Amino acid sequence: MARKTVIVNMIVLFFMVAAKADIISGDFNQQFDVTWGNGRGKIINNGRLVKLQLDKASGSGFKSKNQYLFGKIDMQIKVVPGNSAGTVTSFYISSLGPAHDEVDFEFLGNLSGDPYILHTNVFVQGQGNREQQFYLWFDPARNFHTYSILWNPKTIILYVDGTPIRQYKNMPSYNIPFPNGQPMWILSSIWDAEWATRGGLVKTDWRLAPFTSLYRNFKMQVCTQFSPPSCHQEPWMTDLLDKFSARKLKRVQKKYMIYNYCSDVRRFPLGLPAECKHS
Ligand SMILES: *[C@@H]1O[C@H](CO)[C@@H](O)[C@H](O)[C@H]1NC(C)=O
Repeated sequence: MARKTVIVNMIVLFFMVAAKADIISGDFNQQFDVTWGNGRGKIINNGRLVKLQLDKASGSGFKSKNQYLFGKIDMQIKVVPGNSAGTVTSFYISSLGPAHDEVDFEFLGNLSGDPYILHTNVFVQGQGNREQQFYLWFDPARNFHTYSILWNPKTIILYVDGTPIRQYKNMPSYNIPFPNGQPMWILSSIWDAEWATRGGLVKTDWRLAPFTSLYRNFKMQVCTQFSPPSCHQEPWMTDLLDKFSARKLKRVQKKYMIYNYCSDVRRFPLGLPAECKHS
């Protein structure tokens, strides 16, 4: 190769690396700590895989070392296979504390052959009650699938394998609360919930413990409260659903959404939350 080509290639490579500098991926050891579970949670395979387990005594979880103010986070998850009734596997962002902002993916387990429910919620200043639940178009315990949270100043979008399933927009002109003032951590966990399976009718079969969920191939595009203004110029920071994706979201919701707080008029006798009327 001519020396000139080598130099040009090096320059091109340099700019590619520089442009992608904000994408963090791969090594869980560098970005996360297992924060609870007394050995039930483990980062293994040189930081490439996390194994979270649940037994009768406790579950387990991991948490990012840093807090972020906006981000797009992809996580590949394979949830508890077989009879997973009563188990909940989660992936979420949260500022934690009593007035927490939070965006949740929660996988509610089920008996073998019965479908998981993907439960989602958005909290602003400690106030949630914004549940939407979905069946998935695949068995989430069979293979890894990618679950993504996009959180920027304009919107929150949840994706499953790149397909948007939920959007929560920032609509300040309608006085709708939006989480944009508190940095959040990235968290994941597994635990046991009485209410999870068929509304609490089916309990966990502890003879099958420990229950295991796996996490791998995370990818983070993130800003912190200390990031330079250029971080706010990243494309994901201004991403909104385009017309095509909005139509896709509608189709998915029509087919797979099984609960929507915005349709639950009995639950809100004084009127549906403001965001339901304006989206
Ligand atoms: C479990 O399976 C039952 C029966 O198919 C279904 O009604 C329920 O929505 C499923 N999921 C959960 C988490 O209960």
